[in-house]
Amino acid sequence: MAVIGIMDSGSGGLSVFREIRKSLPDAKYVYYADNANCPYGEKTPEFITDRCRNITEFFISKGADIIVIACNTATAAAIATLRAEYSLPFIGMEPAVKPAALGTGSGTIGVLATAGTLKASKYLNTKGRFEDNVRIVEHVGKGFVELVESGHLDGPEVEFVVKESLLPLLEAGADTIVLGCTHYPFLLPVMQRIAGPEVRFIDPAPAVTRQLVKVMGECGIPERDPNPGVDLHSSGPSESLLKIYSLL
Ligand code: DGL
Repeated sequence: MAVIGIMDSGSGGLSVFREIRKSLPDAKYVYYADNANCPYGEKTPEFITDRCRNITEFFISKGADIIVIACNTATAAAIATLRAEYSLPFIGMEPAVKPAALGTGSGTIGVLATAGTLKASKYLNTKGRFEDNVRIVEHVGKGFVELVESGHLDGPEVEFVVKESLLPLLEAGADTIVLGCTHYPFLLPVMQRIAGPEVRFIDPAPAVTRQLVKVMGECGIPERDPNPGVDLHSSGPSESLLKIYSLL
């Protein structure tokens, strides 16, 4: 059996699932979108941890061997507690500051993430390790999660909302921008158009996929399941989840 549970506050984790499925096409996936409680960005760590516990129990009831917290905000809030309370392995997300810091030419990198991620000690520690060598500028992707959850991925309204959070980073001289929320890759075509081809955006999904494959190997979890496929679940309406899924 190779059952992989993947969760997010909504459809954002599908940007991680899309990448994972390329490497593990024959696994069985159970995806959970907690969209009745989305966005997580401004919720307390206690609330998010409780939701993650409930969703972990759900995955266990579906036979999960490993769980991917495909949400930077939930990882920052809950992964240490989940690892302490459950014996199955958890893979989390973190803004990819390191590759951005190593790759910048201008010496300034931008981080786009939720308020919860940007104030979490996990991120602040990572940032502290690189701040001596590069300038790090941050912005909450204000309204980005709501756009993706409502299925709006392009058009004038989307450009307007994206510009508000992206332009301050570009004006500060960032040539490399970390996508620190799993919803944001769905807005990448708009962001790239606004920023121009010389700005590089980093989506951590490929690195998370490599980590997942490595941990599965170490834990002896097979890469193939006799019943491969995807089960989609959500705590709220499923229309936008299905729409984003159909675009993968
Ligand atoms: N997709 C999530 C993340 O990676 C959470 C977005 C939200 O619910 O605010 O942070």
